[in-house]
Amino acid sequence: MHVPAAPSAPDGPGFFLSFEGGDGAGKSTQLHLLARWLRDTLGREVVTTREPGGTTLGVELRNAVLHGEDVDPRTEALLYATDRAHHVHTVIRPALERGAVVLTDRYLDSSVAYQAGGRELSAAEVEDLSLWATGGLRPQLTVLLDLDPDIGRGRLTGAPDRLERAGDDFHSRTRQAYLERARTAAADGRQPWLVVDASRPVDEIQSEIRAHVAVALGLAP
Ligand code: TYD
Repeated sequence: MHVPAAPSAPDGPGFFLSFEGGDGAGKSTQLHLLARWLRDTLGREVVTTREPGGTTLGVELRNAVLHGEDVDPRTEALLYATDRAHHVHTVIRPALERGAVVLTDRYLDSSVAYQAGGRELSAAEVEDLSLWATGGLRPQLTVLLDLDPDIGRGRLTGAPDRLERAGDDFHSRTRQAYLERARTAAADGRQPWLVVDASRPVDEIQSEIRAHVAVALGLAP
């Protein structure tokens, strides 16, 4: 597959940050606390969004992939990549071009962790598919909320979706794939990762994330 050269920075002056981690790790709580701080204290325009389901089409794709009929791993990877392509084109790039800080609950590295790590497709192929889908857009920083999947499962409410039902081995492969991705990011020339122990109290985790984001935004040494 031909993949265009992947710029590590977006086109505009904005800042693009992804939150990653297993189900129940607390991504959306941390994302919204960070968004409030960036808006209220720093006066930045902040766009909060998520995958799958950050657009109207994405909501339909989310429903299909999480609650629809069973599909094979390649179909699943393509559904997530389709959601991502449309999300980047209609929400993320325009916001970055306006200079906004974009905080997304999951992005490309979810596909590498779940469809490659979990479903055991090739990591390089899954990554290339997403890079093709997004025209090469990578985040500038990724926050990984790392948590034992047993603890994450205990925090979930409601009936489990297709991915949550994928089993213990699947979720432990997903966690290992994330940690490996964080460990090799610098050597592979990918975006920097902040790996946070998500079993700690919410406010402690948030302080660590804010300190790191302040440096990434050039607000602290
Ligand atoms: P999420 O919205 O985090 O779940 P919830 O709202 O139930 O907390 O993500 C939905 C599921 O989709 C989650 O199990 C991870 C999975 N997923 C992938 O497998 N690949 C992907 O590329 C993405 C974005 C999510």
